[in-house]
Amino acid sequence: MGNMTKRNELFARSKVWMDGKFLDYKDANIPVNSHSLHYGLGAFEGIRCYRADSGGSAVFRLDEHIDRLYNSCHILQIHIPYTKKEMINAVKELIKVNGFKECYIRPIVFIGDRSGLGIFIKDYDVRVAVSVWKWGAYLGKEALKTGIKAKVSSYARFHVNTFMGMSKSTGQYINSVLAKKEVVNAGYDEAIMLDTSGFVCEASGENVFIYSGGIVKTPPLSSVLPGITRDSVIKILVDDMGFQVKEERITRDELYIADELFLTGTAAEVTPVREIDDRKIGIGKAGKVALELQDKFFKIVKGENKKYKKWLTYV
Ligand SMILES: Cc1ncc(COP(=O)(O)O)c(C=O)c1O
Repeated sequence: MGNMTKRNELFARSKVWMDGKFLDYKDANIPVNSHSLHYGLGAFEGIRCYRADSGGSAVFRLDEHIDRLYNSCHILQIHIPYTKKEMINAVKELIKVNGFKECYIRPIVFIGDRSGLGIFIKDYDVRVAVSVWKWGAYLGKEALKTGIKAKVSSYARFHVNTFMGMSKSTGQYINSVLAKKEVVNAGYDEAIMLDTSGFVCEASGENVFIYSGGIVKTPPLSSVLPGITRDSVIKILVDDMGFQVKEERITRDELYIADELFLTGTAAEVTPVREIDDRKIGIGKAGKVALELQDKFFKIVKGENKKYKKWLTYV
């Protein structure tokens, strides 16, 4: 087998749920003339399942992720041919079929090839797949403890009327991929993007928070993906840690002088940032608030906090 056809080992032996059936990964293929492959109109989710208390496993905020998938598709005018309940069951069954205790879950909705490749198509086939794989700390285990080095990308986040930011759409991730590539090639770990007016927006796959003078701030939802981790940490910060959280515009230099900076996302969880644009944040180490928040977050996802069991769907 040549390099071109070599499959990622994380995926190769897995089962995928595709259009209502469980398939071997190698058989879960998409047509080369899929409209979504060419023009990027599709939507996806990123979800995590954690090993939970009771020895079982629990998916974190599964209902909210499935709701967001339907919202994304509603914005894109793609009708998902399954009910939310069917999608939730597909995710739960797929984890069991693969025998995973902990995994990352990637549902994706895309358009097939039935209606050809015109930009405008009618009566198209909507395809749905879910895959799962083992994925540890997205930015590395060390990053969670010691913090990362971030850089503001030269690529601006798209204007609110360019793409639809409330939709987790496949095509718009070109912006994230370019930004991430740029900063990783320059020796940094993660890219933070500014909006077209120059205010802080979000990272390539995470929401951004700062902590300064006892107050936590994060950019408002008008400019960022409505992160489910963002929503979760706001609740934890306010209800369990007693902080005031302001959802308002942040400038680039506010990042530089913040006491703490951290990122949140399903993949990156709660990741402290120790340095941005070659400037130390605070004392240049993972911040106390971020680490305490991270500890609380990990306890919640593992079912160790009764109050937040409502966020868990046991498999
Ligand atoms: C651009 C972007 N912002 C924010 C997030 C964080 O969202 P969530 O916490 O729902 O994973 C993600 C990841 O899904 C993302 O890709």
